[in-house]
Amino acid sequence: SGHLRHLVAGNWKMNGLKASTDVLDAVIKGHDAVLAARADLMVCPPATLLAAFAARAGGSTVAVGAQDCHAAAAGAFTGDIAAEMIADAGGKAVIVGHSERRTLHGESDADVRAKAEAAWRAGLFPIVCVGETRAERDAGHALAIVARQIAGSLPDSLPGDLVVAYEPVWAIGTGLTPTVADVAEMHGAIRRQLVERYGGAGQAVRLLYGGSVKPSNAAELMAIADVNGALVGGASLVADDFLAIAKACG
Ligand code: G3P
Repeated sequence: SGHLRHLVAGNWKMNGLKASTDVLDAVIKGHDAVLAARADLMVCPPATLLAAFAARAGGSTVAVGAQDCHAAAAGAFTGDIAAEMIADAGGKAVIVGHSERRTLHGESDADVRAKAEAAWRAGLFPIVCVGETRAERDAGHALAIVARQIAGSLPDSLPGDLVVAYEPVWAIGTGLTPTVADVAEMHGAIRRQLVERYGGAGQAVRLLYGGSVKPSNAAELMAIADVNGALVGGASLVADDFLAIAKACG
């Protein structure tokens, strides 16, 4: 949907120390200077940096988000953070269901759905991640797998803004990307599924592509119908690369 403003979100994963504030500062400066009209920008640092980054980015055009949350609002869940805590720290969004959480922490579609509901409860918007493995794509099951993930990871009605990120597992951190035709097919299918389920609200959901997005392939990927932005891993750790990806949206 060409009418939706692109969102470029940087998922820093388990990278970043206090000194990495330099990268955030460079992103803020670059975005404020020339890019605000092209795309919304968001940086998702590890939880240790969330409050400091949100304070630093306050008043700029760059938003800050988190990488995961617990479904509960508080309680005996050692090591977890609640969506309410993310909001309290100044975050605006939270990534849920990233393939690294699904694979390394055994998160199911039902878990992801509960986390998305927690995000809305706390006044955040969730960035819900889906994507097939290499074996699933090779077997011709990519569309069915992603449709099942979407069906199970979202509630029956949308209580607030939603962003969905399509990240083929085999494209994450590998330098490999699907063809333009494959991305177009998948994003079109996701859009149809969302509109069937949610009507007009499904048209307003931004669909991000993620997996080895870099300055050299961003323009091609961001121009695809129903690609409304990018979820960027490695390249988001380098301010110039992250800004170049945002620039490629216009
Ligand atoms: O969430 C973004 C991520 O999984 C993609 O990582 O390093 O391939 O851009 P990367």
